[in-house]
Amino acid sequence: MTSCERWTLRTEHTSYTVRLSPDGPWAELDAWGPLGVEDGPSALDWSRRTHFITPADAAPAEYLPQGLRPFTGADLVVGHSGHERGVWWEFAGAEQHADGLRLAFTDHVAGLRTTLCYATVPGTDVILRWTELTCTGDGELRLERFDSGAVNVPVTSGARLTYLTGQWSQEFTRTQLDLKRGTFTMGSVQGVPGHAYAPWLAIQDAALPDDSTAPTYGIALEWPGDWHMTAEAEPGGSVRVRAGRIPHEGAVLLAAGETLVTPRLACAFSPDGLDGLSRLWHRYERRLSGARLQRPRKVLYNSWEATGFDVEAAAQLELAKVAADIGAELFVVDDGWFTGRADDTGGLGDWYPDPAKFPQGFGRFIDDVRALGLGFGLWVEPEAISPDSRLHAEHPDWVYRMEGRPARLIRNQLLLDLGRTDVQDFVIGTLDRLLGEHPVEYLKWDMNRPPTERGRPGAGPADRLDLDSGHVAGYLRVLDHLRAAHPGVTVEGCAGGGGRIEHATIARTDVVWPSDNTAPLDRLSIQYGFLHAHAPHVMSSWVTDAPGVFDPRPRSLAFRFVLAMCGVLGVGADLRSWNSTQRAEAARWIARYKEIRDVVHHGETHLLGTPEDPTCGVQYLDTDGPRTVVAAFSTGRLDGAPLVPGRPARLRLRGLDPAARYRDEETGTFYGGAHLLHYGLPFAWSADHDAQLVVLARR
Ligand code: DGJ
Repeated sequence: MTSCERWTLRTEHTSYTVRLSPDGPWAELDAWGPLGVEDGPSALDWSRRTHFITPADAAPAEYLPQGLRPFTGADLVVGHSGHERGVWWEFAGAEQHADGLRLAFTDHVAGLRTTLCYATVPGTDVILRWTELTCTGDGELRLERFDSGAVNVPVTSGARLTYLTGQWSQEFTRTQLDLKRGTFTMGSVQGVPGHAYAPWLAIQDAALPDDSTAPTYGIALEWPGDWHMTAEAEPGGSVRVRAGRIPHEGAVLLAAGETLVTPRLACAFSPDGLDGLSRLWHRYERRLSGARLQRPRKVLYNSWEATGFDVEAAAQLELAKVAADIGAELFVVDDGWFTGRADDTGGLGDWYPDPAKFPQGFGRFIDDVRALGLGFGLWVEPEAISPDSRLHAEHPDWVYRMEGRPARLIRNQLLLDLGRTDVQDFVIGTLDRLLGEHPVEYLKWDMNRPPTERGRPGAGPADRLDLDSGHVAGYLRVLDHLRAAHPGVTVEGCAGGGGRIEHATIARTDVVWPSDNTAPLDRLSIQYGFLHAHAPHVMSSWVTDAPGVFDPRPRSLAFRFVLAMCGVLGVGADLRSWNSTQRAEAARWIARYKEIRDVVHHGETHLLGTPEDPTCGVQYLDTDGPRTVVAAFSTGRLDGAPLVPGRPARLRLRGLDPAARYRDEETGTFYGGAHLLHYGLPFAWSADHDAQLVVLARR
């Protein structure tokens, strides 16, 4: 074993080189960037003047335990009885294969084998990293911190971090800060990724002011439970980011012979700024969708905004009729269709259609919807249980609870302990029954409360149970079952809006619901942030009449449609109150959407400007065909400062052939590619004309 061993992983356009440190038994990053970047002295080499710290503290280490790295933050913290806390390991060998690498380290005193795992993902620029921890001794290990991995990015003057923040109804707000020194951290202990932060981070050198062109490193954690991402700006001119699960009870116990596999951390590098990085994530998520990417996402109508809990067959059918008339393809009945569900205080767990709401029978109701030419979809919240439900009376032990402590309600409901196999079997049986008895082709899976008192009465202290990963495993098992047993059913992931959106969920659903906020200007910001991390083909979006919560300025119906067409179009407005002019306009937009949705869902996306600009947009470039779709929005000011009043605003397009000509399919206007790239596509906004969809065909 020599100290200059290096291993390079190659993706389509990038390479990632790891070496064994010349200074100790750890792996460190040698180079990460465009293909060939490893050819030269490492840009991550740290100053060897490690006065008052150890070399391990200064190294751009891939993964280091507390013990070996005493001062500057460890990725692994292990306690073990009979010994001091900490791990001091030795390198135990490398295995490299065509699409991956495994580096093993062993601590014989602690009885721990740690394997750093890397895998490339064909057809993408993503490198997956995770860590496997095996208890090789006789004693139990107490894992207090066990991150998935750490990434190091060299910076000259601090790091610019871009992340997605919010709260319920304001998810995915793009946020930036410059970290010169110190620590930045974000995460969730809500048992789901949460609304406050998405498990996604982009890192750039703050010295490069233009975030749309600066080389950009990105990470995303595949874990629908508790998590953190922590960036530390280090004295040696680099930022080191750690990411992984958080053990809710303070630690996870690892018994002799057991192996814990951490969640996967997806890592990607783009030379083309945040916009370029977003395309890497889109490509990766198209791959996660697998063959189901090819399934056209139907235009749905969802009745939640129109009727709330007041679900009643006749009114639903009235809505379904208008929905079918304007071109919707699917009718989804949201919350309120089952027994005991007059409001949010009851019913959850008793998943039987309410005969009072469907007097002629649920089957007949679905037949009537389908007779309109619509597919049928249903809302469920499989993890939830109402305190007064029959399910709760029969199985009070199925709920997270701590003996002698109050069971708190959130939205008047409790949470099922989905880590229990019998609870998983109940959920699977319930979904099999509903999908088997009725021709349901779309299932919206919602989740409206995080776990509070996490305990399993009778099973001992929660710190021995790892309830967080138990719940995640149960959730994923049920989703995997749905995919295997009901492959024709399209699944929408939702958690009170966008509370649980990450790669494990995206790989097992077809679309996700980014936010309950469908107001036009609020939604513009939400979708803009969302598209930095996630692909248009998973972005469910409805046209509603909702007024703005954070930005209440009114916008046209066209604005709402063009915005919802940026992802997977749905309609959620109370169509009964729409007049014939509105319905006719809706029908025109839906027909147009059907013509371009393949480009939106499969094309290369460019984010043009930001919602803070007077004009912004999203461009979708058909990589296999001649079309480019541009969705453009006027956010407020009409002079498009610094342009003069009356002069059209312009959006400079990207990715076009400067030598080609492009024809606006609606107006017949021709533009040279160079013109669109240099001057941009013009938009003559007015008070009424605040959004436009342009389809350009390359000639
Ligand atoms: C929260 C979801 O985000 C909404 O779309 C809706 O399904 C409600 N729950 C229903 O209770």
